[in-house]
Amino acid sequence: MPQISPRASSLQASPLRKLVDSAEERKKKGVCVYHLNIGQPDLPTPQSFYDALSAMSENPVAYKRSQGAVEAIDAWREYYKTYSVDLDRSELAITTSGSEALQFITCLVADHNEEVVVFEPFYTNYNAFATIAGVKLHPVTLDIETGFHLPSDAEIEAAINERTKAILVCNPSNPTGTVLRKDEMDRLFALAEKHDLFLIADEVYREFVFDGEVQTFLSYPDPNHRLIVVDSISKRFNLCGARIGAIVSRNVDVMKAVVKFCMSRLSSPTVEQMAMIPVLKQHQEIVPPLIHEWHARRDAVDAALKKIPGVKAHKPEGAFYTICELPVDSAENFSKWMIEEFQHECETVLVAPAPGFYATPGKGEKEIRIAYVLNTKELKRALEILTIALEQYNNRTHATKSISGSAGTAPESCRADRSESTRCQPVESPDA
Ligand SMILES: Cc1ncc(COP(=O)(O)O)c(C=O)c1O
Repeated sequence: MPQISPRASSLQASPLRKLVDSAEERKKKGVCVYHLNIGQPDLPTPQSFYDALSAMSENPVAYKRSQGAVEAIDAWREYYKTYSVDLDRSELAITTSGSEALQFITCLVADHNEEVVVFEPFYTNYNAFATIAGVKLHPVTLDIETGFHLPSDAEIEAAINERTKAILVCNPSNPTGTVLRKDEMDRLFALAEKHDLFLIADEVYREFVFDGEVQTFLSYPDPNHRLIVVDSISKRFNLCGARIGAIVSRNVDVMKAVVKFCMSRLSSPTVEQMAMIPVLKQHQEIVPPLIHEWHARRDAVDAALKKIPGVKAHKPEGAFYTICELPVDSAENFSKWMIEEFQHECETVLVAPAPGFYATPGKGEKEIRIAYVLNTKELKRALEILTIALEQYNNRTHATKSISGSAGTAPESCRADRSESTRCQPVESPDA
């Protein structure tokens, strides 16, 4: 039988998949599952996107230019202008999602066995993009004690060697919710300059900043054109399934290569890139109310986590995630137990154990990532249930490894008592 390539065999499946399957099983048994595991916003998609879809009459739906339709590129340029970033048409390419943008960029900045420095915990799909490109990620570990802010230059430089081609940073960060301070952005730019590296900034959560100004690396002078910015409409506009992203760079060689990557897949989806035009043009009206809601959720999560005995949490400054440390032996075991065995009043919670966000074995063993993609009422309830689960998990007797009362198979009554919350309905769980 023919064998798949070693590259394909070594590709990491989403570390969340197994727990997601267990969640689906629990739902079939009538247990309501609060999903704090996925980076999929629950807020509404802008009406202007649907209006643009309804008004479409292009027949047939044709390919657009590989780099993106000119009108759509111009809408992105207008969006960037509101951050005082002036872009030439040649400096932006529309991609089929931020994921495709990251995949292209990883292939483009480094070759086989060359390295990209990343800060762990990091967005786990960086692993997949690196595997596809044959590139090695070299992690610099961040610390919850410092709110996952950058360590000293010396610690970052310890990860840079003769094979290093780029530094990749996500700001605001998935999975930590940390937003870089201006001095940290300055330092990263200076380090990239000193070691002659590309600086890849994943800014898909750009506007998700709760305690300060929205920043973009694009506002930095970049005389040596080392900056490459990855963007996406998924989170900013609640359009995860539309699959539109962008790459921005002032480096002519980078953009010529990006366009060649784009040519290899011919065109990004015509319908979605065109329907995005009015949304991008109205972003100053659309985004602020959404950020207001994320801010309230951040405050609710922060207040609830601080009340849970033994939990170490930092206050996330942006995006819609946080990583916290739990008073448990293993976050993997606890998360698995909570979704497979535990229920309280027919409800349980699905979280993402943090080890999947680290490259260094053994890191993040007691940590989980929470995506606060529920309304504040549901969030508070989910964190109440998490608190009860922690108490019960730590009180298990070694003899039974189970909990009397609420753990184990959900009682038959769960089916009848099923909450009306939308979170309790079976939903197709994505792998994000
Ligand atoms: C940090 C980060 N970058 C990029 C992406 C990719 O987003 P998309 O492919 O939906 O544009 C995600 C999605 O979760 C993300 O969290």
